[in-house]
Amino acid sequence: MGPIGVFDSGYGGLTVLNAVREHLPNYEYIYLGDNARAPYGSRSFDVVHEFTWQAVEFLFKQGCPLIIIACNTASAKALRTIQQTQLLDSYSGRRVLGVIRPSTETIGEWTKSNHVGILGTLGTIQSCSYIIELEKYAPQITTHQLACPMWVPLIENNYHNTDAGRAIIREDVDKLLSMSADIDTIVLACTHYPIIENQIKELVGPRVKVFSQGQIVAKKLKEYLERHTEIDNLLSKSGKVSYITTENTEVFNDKASKYLGLQIQSLHTHL
Ligand code: DGL
Repeated sequence: MGPIGVFDSGYGGLTVLNAVREHLPNYEYIYLGDNARAPYGSRSFDVVHEFTWQAVEFLFKQGCPLIIIACNTASAKALRTIQQTQLLDSYSGRRVLGVIRPSTETIGEWTKSNHVGILGTLGTIQSCSYIIELEKYAPQITTHQLACPMWVPLIENNYHNTDAGRAIIREDVDKLLSMSADIDTIVLACTHYPIIENQIKELVGPRVKVFSQGQIVAKKLKEYLERHTEIDNLLSKSGKVSYITTENTEVFNDKASKYLGLQIQSLHTHL
């Protein structure tokens, strides 16, 4: 029996872990943030894939039977290869899931105008993963997407509340809204962005709904474990959570508390 691994390039995945723990509080979790090499958003396909696989192998070695890649960029650029080749070659029986599919399966339920805005990193947007997946699950939707390459660095460095940070965020939100007056739903397709969800909601006003992925991923994971009892039976239910970062642990603890109100003692690793 082992924990559920939750991986992100940095702090963003903590927003997913929080929501998952609300829905599945009895399970054991290991969170891994590759803060030393974040952001992933502007890195090439090969590099994101290499870093993500290193993280996945690390979590497998910690005994995780199931890993959630709580990072859109890594889900967009690495998940398919990991699921279709590497898992089968070396770790059959273990599972790696991402955050894009659960989101695109659900987005159709939220929009009335069928015009949806997607905000994400350069990697996620250039991969067109949301457009491709939404064509499968909600073909009636017109997708308007925008890369916000500055947002993760702003959040990781705690600059999102400065005047300059707020101006950059406002400019990007305006750019997305100017793509269509019919956009009634915006998806924060980067797990870092819920940290600035209130800032975004203030900018778009009450007419446009803003969705974060944490609750969706959590709900879908719960359903997945109900369907796949063979995986559920491999998961320990001690309620314990460990946090591991590839960067400085004190900074990680401090930011986890500042952004998400989590009082934690993280450990350090090299990947
Ligand atoms: N949280 C990651 C995502 O969802 C951020 C990527 C990055 O490190 O740039 O895309």
